[in-house]
Amino acid sequence: MPKPKPQLPIYALVAAIVVLLQFPERCVAKTRNKYCNSTVCGNVTISYPFRLPTQPPNCGEPRFELDCDSNNRTVLSLNHGRFYVQKIWYEYSTIRAIDPNLAVDDCTLPRGSLLFWDKMPYSWVFPLSLMYVVNCTKAIKSSLYIDASRCPVNSSGSDPPPDSYVYFLGERTSPRDFDESCRIEATVPVMVQNISGFSTSDIYEKLLKPGFELSWSFGSKSQQASPIHAL
Ligand SMILES: *[C@@H]1O[C@H](CO)[C@@H](O)[C@H](O)[C@H]1NC(C)=O
Ligand SMILES: *[C@@H]1O[C@H](CO)[C@@H](O)[C@H](O)[C@H]1NC(C)=O
Ligand SMILES: *[C@@H]1O[C@H](CO)[C@@H](O)[C@H](O)[C@H]1NC(C)=O
Ligand SMILES: *[C@@H]1O[C@H](CO)[C@@H](O)[C@H](O)[C@H]1NC(C)=O
Ligand SMILES: *[C@@H]1O[C@H](CO)[C@@H](O)[C@H](O)[C@H]1NC(C)=O
Ligand SMILES: *[C@@H]1O[C@H](CO)[C@@H](O)[C@H](O)[C@H]1NC(C)=O
Repeated sequence: MPKPKPQLPIYALVAAIVVLLQFPERCVAKTRNKYCNSTVCGNVTISYPFRLPTQPPNCGEPRFELDCDSNNRTVLSLNHGRFYVQKIWYEYSTIRAIDPNLAVDDCTLPRGSLLFWDKMPYSWVFPLSLMYVVNCTKAIKSSLYIDASRCPVNSSGSDPPPDSYVYFLGERTSPRDFDESCRIEATVPVMVQNISGFSTSDIYEKLLKPGFELSWSFGSKSQQASPIHAL
């Protein structure tokens, strides 16, 4: 006669795992921040839910960790790009950022990407849209392709023609308008609904000021699979 399965030990083991998985999180969550003093990086005040790596581990939420670089610029790292934080409005749960490449000199292209399907604790503040930065091997004559180069191309006869042509292209450009000589370099957020009709300088003006805005919420937390549900 086969022995009955040892139900109780397994049940006890599962219960122990549940306790182990659940409790540390609860305890940390309870003591999280609130009592941590806010800190500053440059001209940005950092308080809950944000944190800096230099703060004690219980301050702020890990998902909202920012960095303070050696020039006292506050850095927001997303899945596909790093951005400089310009301002945080705690009362509106909104953060404003710009592409760091724009500050390098007057000729660099924005490079930091935001992707629609990026999983983040942030949601978009409208009007925000994405545009492709494309690098093409030939010049494209189309109103859909907005010149992305801010520096005048030196067309004095003696110079060789540029080996690349860079453009901004709206995110909803249909594949048939997508020239095969072009490669996507970045998918850049910009605070306009539709870049159609914008000039190069109009777009850079928007990229520099305001940059782009995101809002944060804790709502997404419940969507993450917790170890408890996985059991
Ligand atoms: C927070 O700031 C207050 C006043 O500046 C200070 O007395 C206190 O020690 C600080 N607390 C921590 C945890 O740093
Ligand atoms: C950054 O800020 C700290 C504290 O305010 C200051 O001591 C330091 O000189 C600043 N560094 C730079 C590069 O501005
Ligand atoms: C903070 O400083 C940066 C440049 O260092 C500037 O672009 C930004 O507007 C400043 N933010 C505020 C709120 O003053
Ligand atoms: C465009 O691509 C070419 C060829 O890969 C490269 O040499 C050039 O630096 C790129 N231009 C920009 C602005 O990224
Ligand atoms: C264009 O090229 C000429 C000759 O090489 C140079 O003197 C001039 O500064 C260049 N202009 C720009 C805008 O780069
Ligand atoms: C952008 O604007 C252009 C012209 O105004 C229009 O044809 C196009 O449908 C718009 N695109 C989107 C995604 O709204």
